Amino acid sequence: MKPVRVGICGLGTVGGGTFNVLTRNADDIARRASRPIIVEQVGTRRDNPQCETAGVKVTRDVFEVARNPDVDVLVELIGGYDVARELVMTAIENGKHVVTANKALIAVHGNEIFQAAHEKGVIVAFEAAVAGGIPVIKSLREGLGANRIQWLAGIINGTGNYILTHMRDEGRAFDDVLAEAQALGYAEADPTFDVEGIDAAHKLTILASIAFGVPLQFDKAYTEGISRVTADDVEQADQLGYIIKHLGISKRTEKGLELRVHPTLIPKERLLASVHGVKNAIAVMGDAVGPTLYYGAGAGAEPTASAVVADLLDVARDITTEHHYRVPYLAFSGIDEADGSL
Ligand code: HSE
Repeated sequence: MKPVRVGICGLGTVGGGTFNVLTRNADDIARRASRPIIVEQVGTRRDNPQCETAGVKVTRDVFEVARNPDVDVLVELIGGYDVARELVMTAIENGKHVVTANKALIAVHGNEIFQAAHEKGVIVAFEAAVAGGIPVIKSLREGLGANRIQWLAGIINGTGNYILTHMRDEGRAFDDVLAEAQALGYAEADPTFDVEGIDAAHKLTILASIAFGVPLQFDKAYTEGISRVTADDVEQADQLGYIIKHLGISKRTEKGLELRVHPTLIPKERLLASVHGVKNAIAVMGDAVGPTLYYGAGAGAEPTASAVVADLLDVARDITTEHHYRVPYLAFSGIDEADGSL
C-alpha cells in the first residue's frame, strides 16, 4: 500500500526523537498503520547528518514543506506562536493533515486552526502537546467518551516538577536545577513558560476544551508558576506532611468552569505527591468510570515523539480506511462559551 509521506518541520529535541522512533520502529508502525509511514522531507535550519544518512530531503524553508505536493502530513515541531500558526494554516490550505506538539499554538490559535481544518476536511492532531508521552488526549476523547467529566487535576509541566523534586530531595537551588532541566531538553525555548505556569496553562486549556466540550480559552486561565517557591517553603511543607506540586485544575462549578494553575500543597500519602522528576500525572473524574489516573514522562525527546507518532498512526489509519473520521479534538458541542467565569 502507498506510504504516508511525512514532512517534519523542526528537528530539535522532539523532531530528532520523532525521526529516530519512525526509523527504528518502522516495521511495527507500518504493520499497525497498514502502510509505511515515511519521512519525505525535513524543514530545519540546522545541518543534519541524520537526514543525510537516511537520504531524506532537507530544506531550510519550512513553508516549502507545507506546499510540497509529495507531503501528506506536516509535523509542526518548530514551536512558538506566529510562524507556527502561519505554517500550519498554509499546510491546511494545501490540504495536508497536521500533527503538532505545540501547546502554545493550540491553546492560543486552536479555535481558528480547527475551523480551517474542519472546512478543508483534514485532521489536526496534537497528542504530544499535553503531558509528553502520556496518551491523555486520546484517553479523554476516546476512552472516556461516554462520561460527563466532573473535574481533572494534574502535574502537567515536567520541568517544574523536575525542579520541585530536586529542590526537595537534594536541597538544591532553583536556578541550578532549572539549568539541568534545560540541558536535558525538558524546558521550553523560553523557560519562563515553564516556571511561570504559562506552559501548564496552555496544556490545561487544551485538556479542559476536550474534557468539557468548550472552545479553547487560554486567556481565562488563572496562571501562577513556581518561581516564587523557596527552599524554605518546600522544607516547611515537608515538616507539615505535605509536598508542593504545581497543578493544573479544571472543574465544573455552579458558576461555570474553573481553570487554574498554581503551586498546591498535597498530603504526602496522595498519589500525585509521589510523581517525581520529569513525570506528569493527570487525574480525571468521570461520572461513569469514577476516578482515573494517567502517568508517565511529561517531556523529553522520545516520550514526546511517542505521542507524535501515535498521531501519525491515527492519520494513517484514517487515510487507509477512508473512514474519514474527523477526530473531534474539539467537541463541537454547541457550547460557544463556558457558562460562567472560568
Ligand atoms: N517544557 C515542557 C515541560 C515540555 O517541561 O513539561 C513538554 O511539554
